[in-house]
Amino acid sequence: MTPRRTVIEPFKIKVVEPLPQPTRAQREAVIAEAGWNLFRVPARRVTFDFLTDSGTTAMSAAQWAAMMIADESYAGSRSFEALELAVRRITGFHHVIPTHQGRAAERLLFSVLVKPGTLVPSNNHFDTTRANIEQLGGEAVDLVTAEAADSRSRYPFKGNLDVDRLDELCRRERARIPLGMITITNNTGGGQPVSFANLREVAAVYRRHGIPFIIDACRYAENAWLIKRREPEQAERPVFQIARSIFDLADGCMVSAKKDGMVNIGGFIALRDPAWVPHLRSLLILTEGFPTYGGMAARDMEALAVGLDEALDESYLAYREAVARYVAEGLEAVGMPVVQPPGCHAVYLDAGALLPAVPSSRFPGQALACALYLAEGIRSCEVGSVMFGKHATKELVRFAFPRRVYTQAHMDRVLEGVAEVVAGRDRLLGMRIVEEPPFLRHFTARFEPILAPS
Ligand code: F0G
Repeated sequence: MTPRRTVIEPFKIKVVEPLPQPTRAQREAVIAEAGWNLFRVPARRVTFDFLTDSGTTAMSAAQWAAMMIADESYAGSRSFEALELAVRRITGFHHVIPTHQGRAAERLLFSVLVKPGTLVPSNNHFDTTRANIEQLGGEAVDLVTAEAADSRSRYPFKGNLDVDRLDELCRRERARIPLGMITITNNTGGGQPVSFANLREVAAVYRRHGIPFIIDACRYAENAWLIKRREPEQAERPVFQIARSIFDLADGCMVSAKKDGMVNIGGFIALRDPAWVPHLRSLLILTEGFPTYGGMAARDMEALAVGLDEALDESYLAYREAVARYVAEGLEAVGMPVVQPPGCHAVYLDAGALLPAVPSSRFPGQALACALYLAEGIRSCEVGSVMFGKHATKELVRFAFPRRVYTQAHMDRVLEGVAEVVAGRDRLLGMRIVEEPPFLRHFTARFEPILAPS
């Protein structure tokens, strides 16, 4: 048989939802009304929603079926037992603490460990992780590898943590470090994976200094898959074994189940050692719910128990990776520079490189994101000077892909829209802010486009 080139969607579609297709005139009215901020655009006016891969998954028939048999008992729910079993089987961590989403898990764990003046190293902390550490007076320290800075470099593991700098920090500041982390995949850095070799070294550094090692593992399956694909020593191992080997290196994990949990809401902490568990459970009861449901309905826990395994299905992961690769190749083919190499959950468009004449003070990423909405109803997310202000190092726009939601034909249409924007890029002169809140301005600020002098 001739080898097949086309990676197919490994599912049939059982339930469908109409795709909103506003006209160009409607889009023009909507974006002006929204103050040129895509967070303010109603979803019913968006055709391709790439704002996030978080909580936007299409669930499987098996997940919906599991939801029907959920046990909604307040205490000791059978559905919690199902979730606990799945988490233990996949991670090897015995103690499972359910939460309503990832940031609740962060808040609980950090409330127990982080005090004013403490340091928490990672490759890159996700925004909510950083904010939860800082809110408690701690400092989130990013130690991602230097290769991550070059968006054109094809280095396969740009999520790696710089082990030398980590070791140096631990030697200097051991007493101030209550836990060490790593984020897989490294969302803030572009959804880039961490290699197994790097995870092993990071674990060894933390162990040598007696620092508990907690993984932010919300994209654990995608990271395990990219290890299999890019790290020759791991290529022959089944992905569930690679995932288990990753967890075997650590003392616990925090997970937003809205990503590789394949569900729309949920999260958990899982730990090997019981030491922190009583304190965590008390806080859980205080703010999330009883220890056998945390912030979730039992039906959510059932769906998650199934989803955690579905995420490790290799035909699903091959398709997942192919989506990002296909879109990244298509974007480059129409002249849109992207961060290389793409991971699984997103592709990052390099607005700074596309629009070199637009300075950061005129928000090239925001200008590009709005042009993409006008051209094709695409909702993306600026990750640059609007989001990070003076701390921005790049002007990017993220296309994050909901799991199992869009087909290849959808992506082809997206690429047609992008080609039109690239062709008309000389007309993009940037944006100015007309109204902004004191923090997290990207969610609510209002903009207006800068027009050519007539
Ligand atoms: N950690 C990482 C690496 C994340 O990407 C996210 C969320 C969280 C923690 C927080 O989880 O949303 O369930 O509270 N990332 C989403 C995104 C919001 O769009 O990348 P949460």
